[in-house]
Amino acid sequence: MTDSQGEDSRARLAERRGVDPEVYQPAEDSGLLAEAAVDSLSAPEVVLEVGTGSGWVAEQVHAATGARVVGSDLNPHACRQARDRGVEAVRADLLGPFADGAFDAVLFNPPYLPTDPDNEWDDWMEHALSGGEDGRRLIGPFLQDVGRVLAPGGEVYLLVSSLTGYDIVVDLAERAGFSVDEVRQESYPFEVLSILRLRPT
Ligand SMILES: C[S@@+](CC[C@H](N)C(=O)[O-])C[C@H]1O[C@@H](n2cnc3c(N)ncnc32)[C@H](O)[C@@H]1O
Repeated sequence: MTDSQGEDSRARLAERRGVDPEVYQPAEDSGLLAEAAVDSLSAPEVVLEVGTGSGWVAEQVHAATGARVVGSDLNPHACRQARDRGVEAVRADLLGPFADGAFDAVLFNPPYLPTDPDNEWDDWMEHALSGGEDGRRLIGPFLQDVGRVLAPGGEVYLLVSSLTGYDIVVDLAERAGFSVDEVRQESYPFEVLSILRLRPT
């Protein structure tokens, strides 16, 4: 991680803790994921949003598509907030408790900021933002397991930041057995955010 990435990570953590110290609130990345899913999905019946946070993305996708949208999160405070929004929320570590072939689509805006191990605070906002030293701590395990929970014809929408190593994430997804296309891209002052659509090959 470069010094400027480290400073950016620390600034983002401080800024986010100021908004709500326990649950990630919707931001540009949330909006991009919701927009991409709503525009690209065709009549899904059951959708899973992994790491649902406040439940805002799940709520948008349900409102726009009419699908049953389940949100999951490791953070119990997030599950509570999502439920308060009317989202069916399950406390889970990634995809662990979900049955094979259960979902027409899986969405994930992962914690992705590369974070110096000496800077980890071990609080819920850290869990929401930090992707470990390379930013991909959860992306790898997610890609290894997500194909299992997809119904036939199912697809994955994954947010990727340029800070996380776009080409490396595409390579990991291809090695996990997916074809990859980019359905959204937006540039921000410190990063480029993309939404990748993954389909089992
Ligand atoms: C960047 S936030 C995204 C929140 C929300 N989806 C949004 O877009 O506004 C990442 C979310 O992943 C959750 N998370 C972190 N580790 C997780 C894990 N192992 N399993 C499930 N969720 C996790 C965090 O608690 C946080 O709510």
